[in-house]
Amino acid sequence: MVYLINILIILLAIAVIKLVLISIFFYADIRAAQKRDPAAKSFLEIILLYPGLHALVYYRIAHLFYGIRLFFLARLLSQAGRFFTGIEIHPGAKIGKRFFIDHGLGVVIGETAVVGDDVLLYQGSTLGGTGIVQGKRHPTVGNNVVIGAGAKVLGNIVIGDNSYIGANAVVVKDVPPNSTVVGVPGRITKQDGKKMDVSLDHARILDPIMQTIEELQDRVKELEKNK
Ligand SMILES: CC(C)(COP(=O)(O)OP(=O)(O)OC[C@H]1O[C@@H](n2cnc3c(N)ncnc32)[C@H](O)[C@@H]1OP(=O)(O)O)[C@@H](O)C(=O)NCCC(=O)NCCS
Repeated sequence: MVYLINILIILLAIAVIKLVLISIFFYADIRAAQKRDPAAKSFLEIILLYPGLHALVYYRIAHLFYGIRLFFLARLLSQAGRFFTGIEIHPGAKIGKRFFIDHGLGVVIGETAVVGDDVLLYQGSTLGGTGIVQGKRHPTVGNNVVIGAGAKVLGNIVIGDNSYIGANAVVVKDVPPNSTVVGVPGRITKQDGKKMDVSLDHARILDPIMQTIEELQDRVKELEKNK
């Protein structure tokens, strides 16, 4: 019995030490989560219950191993993080300060992705590659960028500072700073606080399938006329 109590005390002590270390080393990230998630009620809640923070803890340690070329160990840790959080951050990715992943499930960040400071990612977003290219093949995301739920940012492109990538957008081209991008493929709808010119019928642009059907209809009409 005494033996069991001793084990419990040791486990409790380890948990407390872990909590204290995470609070110290991840203070800025926890504060960022508190600032950016209106649902966050307390510091302790974020440390204990936020998968985005847990994934970041796994990532930061795995990244250290990656830096000293212990690739297998780095990847092992990254996969453990993925198992427990549903968030996959490759240990080779470079992630800045005050990073926050809200909800988290399904987030994927590729090996050569670079993420600036104060970036917020929502569930289901991907910073991925477009194929099996070697070298830098994932996006570079600037500072203070928000990437919406389910958005896919693909290839070696640059997302400028202070930009918003809308939920479910698919972005495959560079985005200038201070832009808002929505749709598939991603289109800039706002820049430097001003709505972009929507004389091209904004709603249609956001629906490329409809746009293609309408183009085909026009073409058929033209061909019928020339018969
Ligand atoms: C893209 C986003 C940042 C737009 O913010 P905004 O600048 O305030 O833009 P608005 O709301 O004024 O919308 C501008 C236009 O884009 C459209 N739009 C907005 N978000 C869109 C999206 N994700 N996909 C497609 N169209 C979108 C709007 O309908 C509007 O169209 P309209 O001009 O024809 O009426 C925001 O809508 C978004 O998607 N944020 C991600 C948030 C998220 O993922 N939350 C998950 C929480 S769990």
